[in-house]
Amino acid sequence: MSTTILGIESSCDDTSAAVISDGFLRSNVISSQNVHAAYGGVVPELASRAHQQNIVPTVSEALRQAGVKVSDLDAVAFTRGPGLLGSLLVGTSFAKSLAIAARIPTIDVNHLHAHILSHFIRTEEGQEVPEFPFICLLVSGGNSQIVMVRSPYDMEIAGRTIDDAAGEAFDKCAKVMGLPYPGGPHIDRLATEGNPKAFRFSRPHIPGLDYSFSGLKTSFLYTLRDNLKTDPGFIESHKADLAASLQATIIRILLDKLEQAADRFNVKSIAIGGGVSANSGVRMAIADLCRRRGMKAWIPPRAFTTDNAAMVAMAGHFKYVKKDFCDLSLPPFARIEI
Ligand code: KG4
Repeated sequence: MSTTILGIESSCDDTSAAVISDGFLRSNVISSQNVHAAYGGVVPELASRAHQQNIVPTVSEALRQAGVKVSDLDAVAFTRGPGLLGSLLVGTSFAKSLAIAARIPTIDVNHLHAHILSHFIRTEEGQEVPEFPFICLLVSGGNSQIVMVRSPYDMEIAGRTIDDAAGEAFDKCAKVMGLPYPGGPHIDRLATEGNPKAFRFSRPHIPGLDYSFSGLKTSFLYTLRDNLKTDPGFIESHKADLAASLQATIIRILLDKLEQAADRFNVKSIAIGGGVSANSGVRMAIADLCRRRGMKAWIPPRAFTTDNAAMVAMAGHFKYVKKDFCDLSLPPFARIEI
């Protein structure tokens, strides 16, 4: 008998629903919200309202594409946190209501676990998946962590950012350059045309495996400020070099600690996850690092790097196997540790 899980993701500004049967992806529908672009960042109240509008059509479409009915589902997995509380409430309430109506269990999923477990989503027969243990670099708009993954049920944060996340560094620096939100993909695109050695930005000196990106952000701002004094067109005429140098510095910071983690833990592979793992420079650098060290790199397909319900359904599948269901009274959480 196969196990079919519906996953629901609503932690930030993407409403997503997906169906996974025995680890195989059957559908993954994402409704992105455009209302935030005008504000240069996600507006929480607008996000919750858009989730309310999107959730029913998104779930219906995911079921339709998967060719399953509500009565075929074995459980509903939903993102419990971390994320925006109003947004999480929409997904959580919907998942619980559907589960009550269908008389099936609910499974609460940690969004960060889901990013890590996205590597186990199978889209074709014979597809390889990571062997435990491995380390995962989790880099998104809200998190930058190095996680030691011993099993789907045993993960330990070995290092985390003490201030900004890598995605924030991309987005905030892009914002002062006048690029649209989110700036990460724009920096990625511009960086291909620029010289990564054109500018030097500061790198943190923090002990252990923790990250910091606020010093880099400040030195980026000072570079702009100093040059704009004498050349008002500085950003426009140097945008590709600025983007390439910024991206190279972020990658250097990420990889220094990742390499230290690889030295500390006896693992054969490194995975990446989260929105910033869509960055072409980051993807190449991880692949290079693993090649040099004779390790295996697990780089997710771009569709699974940003927020999606496929990873939530996958994490739900692992919990379903253990019959690890949640009580209907379980509330969402804005901030939870891994
Ligand atoms: O995981 P994610 O979708 O959700 C949040 O944590 O909110 O990550 C979003 C982050 C944003 O900071 C965005 O700029 C960044 O991922 N991002 C990228 C790229 N694509 C998305 N950063 C650099 N290069 C990219 N190609």
